[in-house]
Amino acid sequence: MFQVKAHVLLKEQIAPGIYTLRFFCREIASRAKPGQFIHVKCGENRNFILRRPFSIHRILGPDTFEILFKVVGKGTSCLAQLHPHEILDIIGPMGNGFTIDDGLKSTILVAGGMGIAPLVSLIEEIDLQRIRLYILQGAATRERLLYFMYLKRIARKIFLATEDGSIGHKGLVTDLLHVAIKECKPDCIYACGPEEMLKEVAEISSEFEIPAQVSMERRMGCGIGACLSCVCETRDGYKRVCVDGPVFDATEIVW
Ligand SMILES: Cc1cc2nc3c(=O)[nH]c(=O)nc-3n(C[C@H](O)[C@H](O)[C@H](O)COP(=O)(O)OP(=O)(O)OC[C@H]3O[C@@H](n4cnc5c(N)ncnc54)[C@H](O)[C@@H]3O)c2cc1C
Ligand code: FES
Repeated sequence: MFQVKAHVLLKEQIAPGIYTLRFFCREIASRAKPGQFIHVKCGENRNFILRRPFSIHRILGPDTFEILFKVVGKGTSCLAQLHPHEILDIIGPMGNGFTIDDGLKSTILVAGGMGIAPLVSLIEEIDLQRIRLYILQGAATRERLLYFMYLKRIARKIFLATEDGSIGHKGLVTDLLHVAIKECKPDCIYACGPEEMLKEVAEISSEFEIPAQVSMERRMGCGIGACLSCVCETRDGYKRVCVDGPVFDATEIVW
């Protein structure tokens, strides 16, 4: 884990209120794994004493990586105003990411809304390893299905769900999971999204006895395991999302 002054290479708005930020930072890019995160000092005043966590979204090479973020408050508003060549104080890579077991042949990824953020680097790794990839993507509306054309190209099949029915199944993405498992016969499921979605993924994957890894989200303070603000209940007691996660085996979590 490194604390670095990283150069912003590129900021791009990809949907209303949603941006990618590309960093030049060898220390983090060369070590980052899908599912890990960085801790960002979003500004200099007292609003930013606490760093904000963001998943490693894409690893573009040994020197560059991206985060994907949605503007929800002061920290993310500040990030949305950054320009190329500005410098940001970041710490990373942090936490435990996704594990790709040897011999994995087929997998389903379930992405709910901004849950796509850590899954893109995982998708790129899975594609590199020529593992059969099926994607279930859900969002409130068609416009919120980020990267859907790219995902459609890279996956063997993509199953879509929108809450307003503007494309795909009208309803929740987990409504499609039973059918997808029967059709795609995955060895493993990976998921990131709202906690209710993750709980549903955990239940359905356990019904089919398929291992599932879920990326959990909590408000964070220190990011290094000291303040306990990020705990979640597991079968072995409370664990810290920042250092024991954010990725957990779905059967470990007490939902
Ligand atoms: C491991 C991890 C990875 C994350 N990855 C991403 C990512 O890739 N992209 C992204 O857009 N966001 C991600 N988040 C959430 C992101 O950290 C928060 O949106 C961000 O800290 C908000 O900062 P802010 O100052 O703009 O908002 P604040 O002013 O601090 O809060 C605004 C609103 O956002 C909610 N909020 C703040 N932090 C969190 C949080 N950690 N979890 C849930 N709700 C929160 C608050 O309750 C409040 O309603 C991640 C969170 C974790 C724990
Ligand atoms: S954020 Fe402090 S222990 Fe996890």
